[in-house]
Amino acid sequence: MNSEDIAFSFADQHFQDNPTTVMSLLRDKCPVHHTSQPSAHYTLTRGEDVTAALRDEKIWSSKFGPGLAYSEPGVGVLVSSDPPEHTQERIAISRIFKASTIEKMERKIVDLTEELIDHFEEKMSGDIIKEFAAPIPLTVMCWLLGTPTKDIGLFRNWVLPMAEAVAYPEGREASAGVKVAYQDFFEYFSNHIAERKNLLVSGQDVPEDLLTRLLTVTNDGKELSIKKILGFCQFLLVAGSETTTLMIGNVLHRLMEYPEQFELLKSNPNLIPNAIEESLRFDAPVHGLFRTNTEEVTVHGVTVPVDSKVCMMFGSANRDPNLWRDPDVFDINRDPTTLRNHTSFGVGSHYCLGAPLSRLEGKAALAAIIRRLPKIRANGSPKQTTAGVLKGFANLPVRWD
Ligand code: HEM
Repeated sequence: MNSEDIAFSFADQHFQDNPTTVMSLLRDKCPVHHTSQPSAHYTLTRGEDVTAALRDEKIWSSKFGPGLAYSEPGVGVLVSSDPPEHTQERIAISRIFKASTIEKMERKIVDLTEELIDHFEEKMSGDIIKEFAAPIPLTVMCWLLGTPTKDIGLFRNWVLPMAEAVAYPEGREASAGVKVAYQDFFEYFSNHIAERKNLLVSGQDVPEDLLTRLLTVTNDGKELSIKKILGFCQFLLVAGSETTTLMIGNVLHRLMEYPEQFELLKSNPNLIPNAIEESLRFDAPVHGLFRTNTEEVTVHGVTVPVDSKVCMMFGSANRDPNLWRDPDVFDINRDPTTLRNHTSFGVGSHYCLGAPLSRLEGKAALAAIIRRLPKIRANGSPKQTTAGVLKGFANLPVRWD
């Protein structure tokens, strides 16, 4: 089948309503898909192709950013950079995200999940995204970036348009809503960073958080520029919050959909980490992200011209029958070692630095739900997220007794 025969793009409602079916069709019939909608790009969907490309960063560059838009090279950080800058950037923040550092946050995260449930337990119904899945990672981001936790509502209003912009050809210029989100973010965080810098310069006590690390880390004796620190904060806010929110919503949704799996989990809470991992495989919170090829490449007979935007479909690799037994079965009893080979946190040098943190948040969230709301069930139709590259729910109505 040619690309013209299969309508696919993140903007396509049929894909958003049926991602598994469309990905399966693409894997089988059109493993290198091309479309000019909403702007020209290619998509790889076979597991082997996606992982091989992500491991070959010389050809599959991140310099034009992870979205459909061509961002300005050299301006973005992490997912928008290649070595050697990328390597230095990871070194700057990797200490904060080490598993041993993250584990120290466990008690605080468990307490947070309990406090959130205390607030809404009596209501017997509600939107589990708004009341629970969203505030968890946003509050943790406030701890990491040293901002007041009362501002999480403000942050969510910026994160959603920023995440939507990843699928738009105009990127940050996509709409008035996206532009305002970026402006408001930059204003707030420029002030916040300046305040912390002043404290540091005047020798006062400062929290030992990610922001202090970013302001004090040096490379060859040079500090990070304020512009770069702003870039880190913006990326982390988006990368670290909405993805984890969707993951928590997705795992709950599947457990409510497959009650026998939910009962299995309640009878054996040791399976919680596996349930999180299977949810990540089954419903990758990020469908896919883009690379740009530095030379002409031919894949499965399709020639991809140099500097094309090419989407790597993590979510499709996770459902590839050549890599997974019964890929379309949600099974929290899969072998834990094999299960961790899913591609939902990416592959290769850009592998998600926040993976241990989001796993910890997911584990704490699920454990609290099982303990406090074991009879949780669906209460009407959920609404999907409006960010095209993401998979999950904007709201998920539930009830319990
Ligand atoms: C379920 C939750 C999450 C998912 C599904 C997820 C997914 C991803 C994916 C797919 C990538 C690779 C991007 C690429 O290859 O272009 C990535 C990178 C990254 N993520 Fe996550 N992420 C999650 C949570 C987090 C959290 C909680 C944080 C931090 C607070 C975080 C920080 C990062 C960073 C810093 C990178 C960039 C690594 C690099 O470019 O070197 N993520 N994430």
